[in-house]
Amino acid sequence: MARSKQMELSAPLDLSHHFSLTTVRRESSNLKRLYKYYTPGMGNLSGGMPHASYFPYDTLEAAVARPQRFDPSNDNGESAPEKDTDSPARVVVPKESKTNDMEKKIDITTALQYGTAQGLPPMASFVRNFTRQHLHPNVPYAGGPETLLSCGATDGFNKVIETFTNTWSPDRDSIRQREGILCEEFVYMNAIQTARPRGLNIAAVAIDVQGMLAYGKGGLADVLENWDYRKGRLPHLLYTITIGQNPTGGTMSVHRRKEIYALCQRYDIIIVEDDPYWNLQYPSAQRMAARRRSTRIDEFLTTKNYNAHGKSSGYPFLDSLVPSFMSVDTDGRVIRLDTFSKTIAPGCRLGWITAQPAFIERITRLTETSTQFPSGFVQAMVSGMILGQQGDDDVRGPKSKSQSGWQMDGWVRWLEGLRGAYERRMQAMCITLDAGKYLIKGDGSEPSESSEESGWEVIDKVQMYDFTWPMAGMFVWIKVLFNTHPLYEKYSPEVLSKALWVHLTQEPFLCLMVPGDLFAPSQKALDQAWQYFRLCFAPMPDKEVAVITNRLVDGFRAFWQRKNLDGLDDTEELSQKFRNLQVEGVGNMMGIGC
Ligand SMILES: Cc1ncc(COP(=O)(O)O)c(C=O)c1O
Repeated sequence: MARSKQMELSAPLDLSHHFSLTTVRRESSNLKRLYKYYTPGMGNLSGGMPHASYFPYDTLEAAVARPQRFDPSNDNGESAPEKDTDSPARVVVPKESKTNDMEKKIDITTALQYGTAQGLPPMASFVRNFTRQHLHPNVPYAGGPETLLSCGATDGFNKVIETFTNTWSPDRDSIRQREGILCEEFVYMNAIQTARPRGLNIAAVAIDVQGMLAYGKGGLADVLENWDYRKGRLPHLLYTITIGQNPTGGTMSVHRRKEIYALCQRYDIIIVEDDPYWNLQYPSAQRMAARRRSTRIDEFLTTKNYNAHGKSSGYPFLDSLVPSFMSVDTDGRVIRLDTFSKTIAPGCRLGWITAQPAFIERITRLTETSTQFPSGFVQAMVSGMILGQQGDDDVRGPKSKSQSGWQMDGWVRWLEGLRGAYERRMQAMCITLDAGKYLIKGDGSEPSESSEESGWEVIDKVQMYDFTWPMAGMFVWIKVLFNTHPLYEKYSPEVLSKALWVHLTQEPFLCLMVPGDLFAPSQKALDQAWQYFRLCFAPMPDKEVAVITNRLVDGFRAFWQRKNLDGLDDTEELSQKFRNLQVEGVGNMMGIGC
């Protein structure tokens, strides 16, 4: 952004009226306050800190990938298949680094010790720098956002809910006190399950292929204008997954973001953007789908340099990604949740929260008395991998190339490689699904003997399901067209839906999909959820995506050829299977746990 323009930016708004009562009362931890006076070399008589010589770890070491392990996709969405091996790099975190520069100190003595809520300084600085300079180089308020490490997006969301909402109980409180949260019509339910037990009113907003609708029936404007005060106050929070929405795969254009942001300004709503899939954006999806289906390309979502108007991220890859809600956040009303779960590993339990400084300050106070900071093991290993051995004085002998760390260039290259790898998987699944969505008479896929009641003699081509090629993320959301099933008149669609799910888990198909009702936050969504299933192309081996998806398609065909639901319509058995949503030995398209 040009310097003169930067100077014109206004400070973020004071939105402290949205803080919960506990948040307002929260003070900084007395002990943590002391830590800021501590410098290495000082006699520390203050904290109840165990002495580092009694930590049983002398080093933390790992062989890790080089950032180039996976091939980025080119403009046509093509990337090279995964290599079986490459020579690993090494991370060695020593017991004690000799550097006195806390910004460079990555060692066991510091990382495994008590510290401040901000986390290990090199890790916290890397995240802050990446966020402010590269991920969101054009946040339109003075000073820009702050960041705080979290233990992943789930932890981040929990802290946001704690910071901005008061619990409500129907026996204790009046309906006028009940707070609410807006979310997409089908949504990642873990988040909703964080909010619901606090008594929050969950208000679902209609969606299309981009995600949340701003206008139109059931869209945000409609929901807010026609708010039903009998269920509680107007919501002051909006939870949204804007890139590769979980479960529907939608990706929101900048145009739609601006519309939604303007409505949030008008109704004074804070936007919580949960964005674990932001780097997994697939420019090839629209083009490939359009070619196969002769459909139109949505101009709002074509690849471009999204930072052309302002400051570049410094990387063409990052410039080409649809930017966050932070890019339109003039007021400082966006809180963003990031995670390393999809870019490094879920078991890291590491992520970060980005928001205006006053919000981060309050969440930091909460962190001091809850998680304190993310695990030191993880912070040391992740910062060691990315930043390498910092400071020349702490490594015996010359620093080998393999210990120099990925650095920012390597980190961005890694993200780009992941995009290439998942884009190939998305293509493999969608090509196979597209090719198999019709049952065509005469191509060998129709029933071997037609029965009168099935009506097969008169129908030439039957579409079994439909879906949109996802422009990001890990999921394909399919809508099953049960009304084309020969047994549609005989069974309710809900029964057919459950029977299909069981049928697909059985030999020889062995495929596990997630039923749509697991993502329904409202009764309205639940009532239509039977027609949807979420498929995930991430959890299976790369080479098997097409093979397993073919099995799924075969399963659909076989289901459309069934003359009855024998063995599939036992409600008790079905419910049991639904309850145990884990079936051994099956192609897992669920992505269990997320
Ligand atoms: C939208 C969304 N938010 C949050 C998570 C969980 O993230 P984390 O592992 O960082 O808690 C997932 C995992 O799939 C997700 O899809």
